[in-house]
Amino acid sequence: MYHLECIECGKRHTKADVVYTCSKCGGLLDVIYDYSTIELDMDKIKKQCPSVWKYREMLPVDENQEPISIEEGGTPLYKCDRLADRIGIKGLYVKHEGLNPTGSFKDRGMTVGVSKAIELGMKTVACASTGNTSASLGIYGARAGIPAVVLLPEGKVALGKVAQALMHGAKVLSLRGNFDEALVLVRQLCDEEKFYLLNSVNPYRLEGQKTIGFEIIDQLDFNVPDRVMLPVGNAGNITAIYKGFKEFMNMRLTEKIPKMTGIQSEGAAPIVKAYQNKQNDITPETHPDTIATAIRIGNPVNAKKALKAIYESKGLADTVNDDEIVQAQKDLAQLEGIGVEPASASSVAGLKKLVDEGIIGKDETVVCVTTGHLLKDPQEVVDMCPKPVVVDATIESIRKAVFEDK
Ligand code: F0G
Repeated sequence: MYHLECIECGKRHTKADVVYTCSKCGGLLDVIYDYSTIELDMDKIKKQCPSVWKYREMLPVDENQEPISIEEGGTPLYKCDRLADRIGIKGLYVKHEGLNPTGSFKDRGMTVGVSKAIELGMKTVACASTGNTSASLGIYGARAGIPAVVLLPEGKVALGKVAQALMHGAKVLSLRGNFDEALVLVRQLCDEEKFYLLNSVNPYRLEGQKTIGFEIIDQLDFNVPDRVMLPVGNAGNITAIYKGFKEFMNMRLTEKIPKMTGIQSEGAAPIVKAYQNKQNDITPETHPDTIATAIRIGNPVNAKKALKAIYESKGLADTVNDDEIVQAQKDLAQLEGIGVEPASASSVAGLKKLVDEGIIGKDETVVCVTTGHLLKDPQEVVDMCPKPVVVDATIESIRKAVFEDK
C-alpha cells in the first residue's frame, strides 16, 4: 500500500498516475507507505544475501509485475583499515557500488524504475545523464525489450559510460549543452511524447536506491554507523539512502540514523553553498566544472530533499578539489584494491579533509559510498597515472626497467 505525496503541499497522487512532480504545485514527490500493512519476514531479512529485490515488500512495484532485473545490489561493504590509518579514523567502511552489474549504483534505481515503466504500460524510457544513468537505462531498456533515449552533454561523458549506452542499443543524443540543460529538455520530451522519464526526479527510481541504506545496516548486523558519506550531483542518492535509513527506523529495525554527509566538487557545489548559508534550496550554478564529470551539475533537481536529509540527520555538506579527488582515488586503489571513478572518490576525499579539519571525529564509524567503477573513466586514469614503460624484448631490458627507480 503506497501513494505519491508532494513534499511541498502534501497533494496525493495515486500509484496509477504517471507523474514526476506535483500536478498542483510542481513540488517533488515522495513514495509514502502504510507501514502498518508491511509485514517483513525478519528471518529472510537476516539470512538472505543482500540484493535490491530482497526488500521487495518495501518497494513500490506491484506483486504481479515481474521485476526487470540483472541481479543488482548486494555490493560489498569493505572494512578498510589501511585507508582508515592513512586518514586517521577508527572505523572506515567502503560500500562499493561500482560492483553493480553495469558498474554504478544507478542499477538499483533502474531495476525499480524500469519495472515500474512496464507496470504502467509505458513504451519508451528516457533520461538526461552525465553518463552512468544512461548506461544503466540502456541496459535495463534492453532487458525490458523497450527503446531507451538518452541525452548526454557533448564531450563531457566518460568513455566507458558512452560505450555501454551505445552497445546496449540506446538512442544516444550528444547535446550541445550541459547536463542541466539536457534534463530540462528531456523532461519536455517525455511530457510531449509520453516517454517514461527515469531521472532521479522520478520518485520510484529513488526507491530502488534506498536499498543502499538497507544493505549498509544489514551488512553491519543491524548496527548503525555514525556517518554515511557520498558524492552529490543531482542529489537523488543522498535523499534515497536517507529514506532507506528512515524507513528501517520507522519499522523499528534500528534506533538512529547516520549523519548524511554530502560531498561536491569545488567547481560544482550548489548544495554545499546552500548548506553553508543555512538555506533550504539552492541557487543554480550556470557553469559547473570538475574532473568528476559524473557530478558536473549546477542545478540539482533533488536539492530540497537532499538538504532536508542533511539537516534532519545532523549531517553536513562540503567540497573537495580535483587534486584531492585524484589522491583519494589513488589511495582507494592502492591501499585497498578498490577501483573507482573520480566522482566516487570524492566521498573519501571529503572524509580526509573533514578529519584533518577536526570536523569529523577520529572515533566515528564512517561508511563512504563509492558510486561508480574505475573502468567507467579509463581516460582519466591514463591522464593521471605514469605511462607504461616500453621495453625491448630482452631480459636485460626488462630487468633494467623493473629496478629503474630502486
Ligand atoms: N557518483 C556517480 C558515479 C554518478 O554517476 C552520480 C550521478 C553521482 C555520484 C551523484 O549522484 O546525482 O544522485 O547525487 N550521476 C548522474 C548520471 C547524474 O547521469 O549518471 P546523485
